[in-house]
Amino acid sequence: MSVIELDRVETAPVREVQAPKLSFFRTLRFRLMLSVALVHAVLMGAFVWSAVNQQSAAIRAELRNRAHSLITLMAVASTNALLAEDLGSLAEVTARVKRQPDVINGAILDVRGDVLASTDAQQVGHYLRIPPRGSAVGGLHRLELEEQVRVAGQRVGTVLLGMSTRHLQSELAATRDEGLLFILLALVVGSVAAWGVSLLITRNLYTLMTAVRRIGRGNLGVRVDLQPNDEVGLLGGAFNAMAESLQRISEQAQSEHQRRTDAERLACVGELSASIAHEIRNPLSAVINSVKLLDRPDLPASDRAQSIAILNTESLRLQRILNDFLDFARIRESRLVTGDLSALIEEVAALIRQHPHAGTVKVDIQCDVRPCLVRHDPDQLRQVIWNLMLNGVQAMPEGGQLQVRVRCRARTARVSVTDTGCGIPVQLLDKIVRPFVTGRKQGTGLGLSIAQRILMQHGTTLSILSHVNVGTEMSFDLEVA
Ligand SMILES: Nc1ncnc2c1ncn2[C@@H]1O[C@H](COP(=O)(O)OP(=O)(O)OP(=O)(O)O)[C@@H](O)[C@H]1O
Ligand SMILES: [Mg+2]
Repeated sequence: MSVIELDRVETAPVREVQAPKLSFFRTLRFRLMLSVALVHAVLMGAFVWSAVNQQSAAIRAELRNRAHSLITLMAVASTNALLAEDLGSLAEVTARVKRQPDVINGAILDVRGDVLASTDAQQVGHYLRIPPRGSAVGGLHRLELEEQVRVAGQRVGTVLLGMSTRHLQSELAATRDEGLLFILLALVVGSVAAWGVSLLITRNLYTLMTAVRRIGRGNLGVRVDLQPNDEVGLLGGAFNAMAESLQRISEQAQSEHQRRTDAERLACVGELSASIAHEIRNPLSAVINSVKLLDRPDLPASDRAQSIAILNTESLRLQRILNDFLDFARIRESRLVTGDLSALIEEVAALIRQHPHAGTVKVDIQCDVRPCLVRHDPDQLRQVIWNLMLNGVQAMPEGGQLQVRVRCRARTARVSVTDTGCGIPVQLLDKIVRPFVTGRKQGTGLGLSIAQRILMQHGTTLSILSHVNVGTEMSFDLEVA
């Protein structure tokens, strides 16, 4: 039983969920083992208890029978001696009784209760209380019996016999100890057997668990090799079928994604080429026309000067378009460092205030924490803020207010650039960050797309909120250092 890896198919990085750590006492293995061991112990306990009880009853019955036979023999053996008051013969009877195993005492009494002979010589001649007729008093360690000796229905004496149950007790204790040992042995053997069985059952489950974890980590090529001869084996088959279809779906999704990316890339290249062609067509036509005019020898001096001026501005425009496009195309990887955002904004604001378009625009900076330390690429972020502020002042040719606000929070700092300008028409809003989309005559339409690309490299994007003739707010978040 093992986990097989087919061709490794890694999907997008998957966040691994940490599997909860299971304590040994909560595992299926332990529970299975415990239940088997407990059942084993209870059954063995019941069996041993019943065996000890049966043996105890049998030993007791045997002792009682032996005692009864012995006292009957004593009574028979002492009848004639009692009639003849032959103390010597009576003493012989008690002496014989004393030699029997387990006998504690034996005594022969006359009708009055005086001891005529006894295994305990000190009792002879003394009165001994006779227990009720036919009684057998069983103390913890002794069994006492009494038998009347009768001749023609007349009581001529009484025999007493006391037997020790100590032997019986020790035999029972030995049986009980043996039983306990047996239970203990059964517990150990049962636990070991249960452990083996639980290992067999749960081994396949662990194989499945490992495979599920690998799938969870994104490796969809994992399969399990389990024999389908029990429920877990069938589950393994279902798992393989699931992994198979997951892998197929993932491969389809990947190829679909690749196809779409290629198509989007092609469309983007086409759109970009069309935009560049559109941007350079007008200035290029102006340049060509001017060159044609200048080629005419009869061109008046004033027209010649105008053509040269056109050549000058249009070639400069072409150069600017080319430079902007190169800036856009060559945005380098961001090199993030920790720095003060408020200082950087103040720096850009100082330059914007001197810009010819700034006119009567009032530039206001608000920063709730200074310094506001964020992770950023200073050169690139300077360009983003410049582009946003410049768009703001260009949207307010008649003057207005441009406000840059920085709100520093625990994890992020939010930068927002707000103006009271013309606003962005709804039809332009959706595509405003695409390259070469512009609403201004002199614009290239690259400012916002450059800003968006740089911000994406910082792990954030531009949010735009705008109302025509009211104003525009452009904002983004940065990670606080
Ligand atoms: N704050 C704003 N208020 C109003 N319109 C705006 C604002 N910001 C951008 N726009 C509109 O979005 C268009 C695209 O802006 P973007 O900065 O990308 O290019 P541009 O300013 O036209 O050219 P440039 O490449 O020189 O920046 C602008 O032409 C303008 O119409
Ligand atoms: Mg711009």
